[in-house]
Amino acid sequence: MKIAVMASEGAPYIKSGGLGDVMEALPSALSRIEGNEVVLFLPYYKKIKDNPNYAVEQVMHFDVQLGWRQQYAGLMRLHREDGVTVYFIDNDYYFGGRPGPIYGDGDDGERFAFFSKACLEALTHLAFVPDVIQCNDWQTALVPVFLKAWYQDWLSQTKTMFTIHNVEYQGWESGCFFDDVLALPWEYRPCLDMHGQMNLMKGAIEAADLVSTVSETYARELMYPYYAHGLDHVLSHAAWKLRGITNGIDIGTFNPETDPHIPAHYNADTFAAGKAACKAALQKEVGLPQDPDAPLLVMVTRLAGHKGLDLLCYVARRLLWEENCQILILGTGEPQFEAFFRELAAEYPNRVSAQITFNLGLAARVYAGGDIYLMPSKSEPCGLSQMNAMRYGTVPVVHATGGLRDTVPPADEKGENGLGFTFQSYNGDDFLGALKRCLSLYHSNRDGFRSLQHRDMCQDFSWDKPAQRYMELFRQICG
Ligand code: GLC
Repeated sequence: MKIAVMASEGAPYIKSGGLGDVMEALPSALSRIEGNEVVLFLPYYKKIKDNPNYAVEQVMHFDVQLGWRQQYAGLMRLHREDGVTVYFIDNDYYFGGRPGPIYGDGDDGERFAFFSKACLEALTHLAFVPDVIQCNDWQTALVPVFLKAWYQDWLSQTKTMFTIHNVEYQGWESGCFFDDVLALPWEYRPCLDMHGQMNLMKGAIEAADLVSTVSETYARELMYPYYAHGLDHVLSHAAWKLRGITNGIDIGTFNPETDPHIPAHYNADTFAAGKAACKAALQKEVGLPQDPDAPLLVMVTRLAGHKGLDLLCYVARRLLWEENCQILILGTGEPQFEAFFRELAAEYPNRVSAQITFNLGLAARVYAGGDIYLMPSKSEPCGLSQMNAMRYGTVPVVHATGGLRDTVPPADEKGENGLGFTFQSYNGDDFLGALKRCLSLYHSNRDGFRSLQHRDMCQDFSWDKPAQRYMELFRQICG
């Protein structure tokens, strides 16, 4: 099958969050499947352009019409060992000449409208007719709409799957964006219109042949106002074509047997000694006492409200009074949370460490050296770090929502059956309850705790199964 994947970010070239990780692993996994030809489209950001490590060649250039604008698009190509061909769309005005972060400019709508159209133009110039285009989040949401409106002569057999990684960011634009930037035929206005404004994600949900999201539970949650950020009606209407496929993680990178960032290597059979060494080294690195018996509670996260930090702030002091434990937070984000954890660490220097920084090496050492991983997210489409944690034998305590619910089935008090500890309703006391059940297992039944760790480490979180699920759905829409 010929598959074109389109996205606004993809590791290792450029990444701001989980979407970047998925766009590294999913195309690769699809390309490993016999008979597939996979191309990946990304914007040619300054950071990629300036990186001398990529052997990128220019293939061609063409113009892209966007309303009254005629914009240059260069097509850059990179052949990868995994078989994926990466195409970067080059334009200095929208991407290559901007040094800042990849999102957040006032003209983001126009930038990604340009990118979406340039990707489709590129397909026609390359004479590459994919069976399926898989596009992701609001930045590429216009692809299915443009495809229907303008590319039926070339791509009439091409089907589209739109994947929602996070419904919070929908691509809202003013009503005049429709004429000024898109200049689509009038009959496409209702599909993009929401309360007189343009909602690009809504357009994709209506125009795509299939809509997917990154876990089965999140696919169900999206029908409810609490989770859907205003799109619950639109998504309920599209329920017939909405599916959930839980992400995997890159088990090559996240591998405690080979990870170059961690001080001791281990696997599911040798983790007791390996993790003890990693824990001692980590405690030393972050300035905590090297106490092997104090359970080390860790979190690697963007310090953003929806990650459930308000719950942790609410229970942190009580947890420290009532339990012999250490807390380690790694991440940056909203100033009130950065300040809270800095103050807590100053107040409890022997119990709490706040690493307010972004550091991939340290993140790996935290996954390896921690005992218990906290992820009380208010909502979580999939979540990847709970899987990273389990792969390194760190037991997750999570809010049973979205992908957390699907990847962390609850264990009982003896640590049997599930993979971690969960709480159902989003409040601090229930979170504390789940934490206490986990800590009680750690203190009073270390064998039970170890068998839970062992089970966590034996799970298959690879991309193989999710990639097969994508293929099943691709085959369905292609008939
Ligand atoms: C978004 C979601 C996260 C998901 C990731 C990859 O970042 O918030 O839950 O794991 O996308 O799909």
